[in-house]
Amino acid sequence: MLSVRRGCSLLPYSGVVKQSIVEARLRGFDLRLATQPGVFSAHGVDAGTALLIEAMRVSPTARVLDLGCGYGVIGIVAAKLATRGRVTLVDCDIRAARLAERNLALNGVENAEVVLGDGVHELPPKARFDVVVSNPPTHGGREVLEDFVHGAYKVLRPRGTLYFVFNRLPSLLREIEATFGNAEVVERSAGYMLVRAVKTPRTPRNEGEEYAAALGSRYR
Ligand SMILES: C[S@@+](CC[C@H](N)C(=O)[O-])C[C@H]1O[C@@H](n2cnc3c(N)ncnc32)[C@H](O)[C@@H]1O
Repeated sequence: MLSVRRGCSLLPYSGVVKQSIVEARLRGFDLRLATQPGVFSAHGVDAGTALLIEAMRVSPTARVLDLGCGYGVIGIVAAKLATRGRVTLVDCDIRAARLAERNLALNGVENAEVVLGDGVHELPPKARFDVVVSNPPTHGGREVLEDFVHGAYKVLRPRGTLYFVFNRLPSLLREIEATFGNAEVVERSAGYMLVRAVKTPRTPRNEGEEYAAALGSRYR
């Protein structure tokens, strides 16, 4: 049976909404971003999100996943950096996914697509990325956060990099460390910490088998 997680809406949204445009300059790019009430940080780009964007390393050929993309600002900057790469943006909230799609167009991004989905579960089974970036939904509960970390681990290529930014959550840092076998706090600002972890070949979950087994038992 399909179940919808807390904070997720996979249903068509038919309410009348008033969208507005916020402007931001990040990594030297001037961006115009449509937002609307009810999506994360609708008034302007969140300080943690900006911290991640300014620090993330994205090569020109990188394949990048923006997990929990909101209105898409991280994925849009990643796509502008990965000029010969490709970016996938995922969110489970139909309002956020539609805004992200509109914002790709508003900012002239053609090397990216938006997926409406729960974590990595709606991605093609063989989708793999060099970089996974996220400002995860810390109010979504432990199950969602663990699923974001394990899902990111599964879809990263060996030596791929994870960037997660969050506000004072030692348990999430421990989960990243336990899953990846490493985790480094690369920036701290205004209560946020930016954590980087690398999928090293030595870790036991490399092929995602444990992840698949865990998922099987969780959703049976
Ligand atoms: C803290 S917000 C960050 C939004 C955006 N990345 C930013 O930095 O502005 C977290 C986002 O995760 C999304 N989200 C929550 N649970 C999710 C899930 N299970 N799968 C995909 N996205 C989810 C929320 O809808 C929200 O847009």
